[in-house]
Amino acid sequence: MSDYKYSTLAVHAGQEPDPVTGAVNVPIYLSSTVELTGIGTDKGWDYSRAGNPTRDRLEASLAALEGGTSGHAFASGMAAIYALVATLHAGDHLICSHNVYGGTARLFNLIVRHYGIEIEYVDTGSLDAVGAAIKATTKLLHIETPTNPLMALTDIAAVSRIAHAKGVEVSVDNTFMSPALQSPLALGADIVMHSTTKFLNGHSDGLGGALIGTKPEHKERFWLVQKAAGGILSPFECYLVLRGIKTLPLRMKQHDENGRAVAEFLATQTKLKRLAYPGLKSHPQHELAKKQQRGFGSMLSFDLGTREKAGRFLSALKLFLNAESLGGVESLASHSATTTHAALSDEDRAKVGITEGLVRLSVGIEDKDDLVADLEQALKAV
Ligand SMILES: Cc1ncc(COP(=O)(O)O)c(C=O)c1O
Repeated sequence: MSDYKYSTLAVHAGQEPDPVTGAVNVPIYLSSTVELTGIGTDKGWDYSRAGNPTRDRLEASLAALEGGTSGHAFASGMAAIYALVATLHAGDHLICSHNVYGGTARLFNLIVRHYGIEIEYVDTGSLDAVGAAIKATTKLLHIETPTNPLMALTDIAAVSRIAHAKGVEVSVDNTFMSPALQSPLALGADIVMHSTTKFLNGHSDGLGGALIGTKPEHKERFWLVQKAAGGILSPFECYLVLRGIKTLPLRMKQHDENGRAVAEFLATQTKLKRLAYPGLKSHPQHELAKKQQRGFGSMLSFDLGTREKAGRFLSALKLFLNAESLGGVESLASHSATTTHAALSDEDRAKVGITEGLVRLSVGIEDKDDLVADLEQALKAV
């Protein structure tokens, strides 16, 4: 299967017909338990927390799409990030990109830190800063690229080289790009993380998360967390993600085309500042985006100056829905300071540049002219 090209893998990897009935779609196995064949013997499954035939299929699909050796599906993106750090020990040092999804920072600051794990936020866009931050106790470098919502990039290949030279593993939150537009493992990272809630599912109808590993040790470790802690994805939601994955390559083409069109339109507008879209030449890391991504995607953000102006803009939108989340077929707009990054203190938001006027767009797959017209009319209200 791994010899096939990406669009073929999206339709077929892990999605082979059911061997029992020939059903073309992966069956949803709801059974929580399975009849054993004897004492200590079974047909490959015993209890659904440890393994489920529908989940196995999704995990195989995700591993194939990311080019990893094992996939692990969790109840949400946050459950996947939790699983990523669950086996760290007190005294271990974790380095994280300094402007990440607010939920990741909330998990690290309010929960993981209390386990005695030292967490350091670093501008992973700076290779010098990454090199300087690594110390003897550093176990993991977790990066998000592009970051939510400021679209800052980290050079995955370069930071992986730096980390590996010091025996540190690299995990990449690939949610914003999806496996269609960026392959962190091929660039040298060790682990990929996804919120499948976003582009992988693609229809805003189910939370989910995933880790994709590259080593036998990852398979054992992440499976242990699935079985021991139990934050696994339900069979029904595994099915929804499998269904979404079949059209991921097609959807991402449209997302990417629409994202570029919207960014180009916004670049001509004088009412906004700090337009962040890696596909624009004005983005400071445009060259890196061209090098490590296969497109620029459909996420972007800009600053309207004040919270009031951002509020007027969001209320005036007709097609874009004022809603959190991203990566669905429908276009969404959100106020980062009070939604995705509400968990950060005012000071921490200010430090990374999440201002009161910041608006983030997740550009959907509607007609791009309609989307641009909607933005144009809403900007008149600002
Ligand atoms: C980049 C990124 N990572 C992780 C998450 C968390 O995923 P979930 O909402 O599925 O728990 C999100 C959610 O918005 C996200 O944007």
